[in-house]
Amino acid sequence: MALNPYEIRRDFPLLVKRRIVYLDNAATSQKPRQVIEAMAKFYEEKYANIHRGLHVLSREASEAYEEAHEVVAKFIDAKSWREIVFVKNTTEAINLVAYSWGLRELRKGDEVVVTIMEHHSNLLPWVAIAKLKGAKLRIVELGEDYTLNYEQLEESISERTRVVAVTHVSNVLGTLNDVKRIAKLAHEVDAICLVDGAQSVPHMPVNVREIGCDFLAFSGHKMLGPTGIGVLYGREELLSEMEPFLYGGDMVREVRYAGGAVRPSWNELPWKFEAGTPNIVGGVGLAEAVRYLERIGMDEVRRHEVELTQYALKRLRELNGVEVYGPSKVEKRGGVIAFNLRGLDPHSVAALLDERGIAVRSGFHCAQPLHEYLGLVEGTVRASFYIYNTREDVDALINALGKILMLVEGRASEIVGD
Ligand SMILES: Cc1ncc(COP(=O)(O)O)c(C=O)c1O
Repeated sequence: MALNPYEIRRDFPLLVKRRIVYLDNAATSQKPRQVIEAMAKFYEEKYANIHRGLHVLSREASEAYEEAHEVVAKFIDAKSWREIVFVKNTTEAINLVAYSWGLRELRKGDEVVVTIMEHHSNLLPWVAIAKLKGAKLRIVELGEDYTLNYEQLEESISERTRVVAVTHVSNVLGTLNDVKRIAKLAHEVDAICLVDGAQSVPHMPVNVREIGCDFLAFSGHKMLGPTGIGVLYGREELLSEMEPFLYGGDMVREVRYAGGAVRPSWNELPWKFEAGTPNIVGGVGLAEAVRYLERIGMDEVRRHEVELTQYALKRLRELNGVEVYGPSKVEKRGGVIAFNLRGLDPHSVAALLDERGIAVRSGFHCAQPLHEYLGLVEGTVRASFYIYNTREDVDALINALGKILMLVEGRASEIVGD
């Protein structure tokens, strides 16, 4: 059944209660009552710590938390729920790989390939580990029409490459990268491939086995789930071989003490990577968010966003004085649109939009190198869509931008009574 954003909106208390055109979905999504209620119900009926007590509440809480891993595994078609590690967010997932894998595996002279489109969270962990290990970072830039330069990518991958870490969808340009092709190129030289799925998993079908990546990182809060819960998918063989990232409770099988020495052995997957009391209720909320998205169908989510993005791009281009950045073909992009108004800095545009009840983001969007590369020294304004956005939301944005442009051009008198 076709996704109906007007019906969907009724599930989102904030969108019902507040008269706001919410176009900041790349930063975080709003939450449906189903997710809010599932978390409240869990607190009211099942809450206890997991894997620690033999009592009924602990058993039920453990079951719900483990089931959440299964729900997520199915959602991205992982082979096993043991390949799903719950972390705090995308940032922590990538740091986990950089520290647990990179710190041990990278050697002097090795190379890590990333792209100029990376969010700081898929750039800075690699900068840090490469520096510690004497490895080199190679940065692939853009080709035509704001797409990745695949020629340069192929030239950058060599026998020295150990990691190719790339975003699936740029959180600024919206560029959709061919991660299947990139994973294949990485594997041809026995490198690992990490995909940053923060802007893809919430918005389109993502299948780890089809992509063939070794790791996929994403955040619950950008896909209708609560904050504080994110996912690292990792191929079981790799996760099994890796050392833990954080050490403490629940990640050990046993800790022996003999002859004055402490000898730990690690717990099975995924618990080896989930040290301490995890975000139990966050896991339950994320599973409910996934169920909500699955009821709609990820193909439908994608179709809706493509349609809205196409409409928004068309209307933005009709405005004189707007510069849009990102691929012109809608099939090559996600539902994120970065732009600037001639004669006005991005923060002022965002503030003026806010005065008109429209929430967008402005600045560098945690991708400052990309902005520098593009010569956008003040950043960009970013509008980003999700399942509850409508054509009317796009119209509101365009009308407001039209009025702001008049202001800039000194035709303020025309907007009296705005
Ligand atoms: C592409 C991309 N990667 C990583 C992140 C970081 O996500 P989080 O802040 O949830 O760790 C974001 C967040 O905006 C993102 O857009």
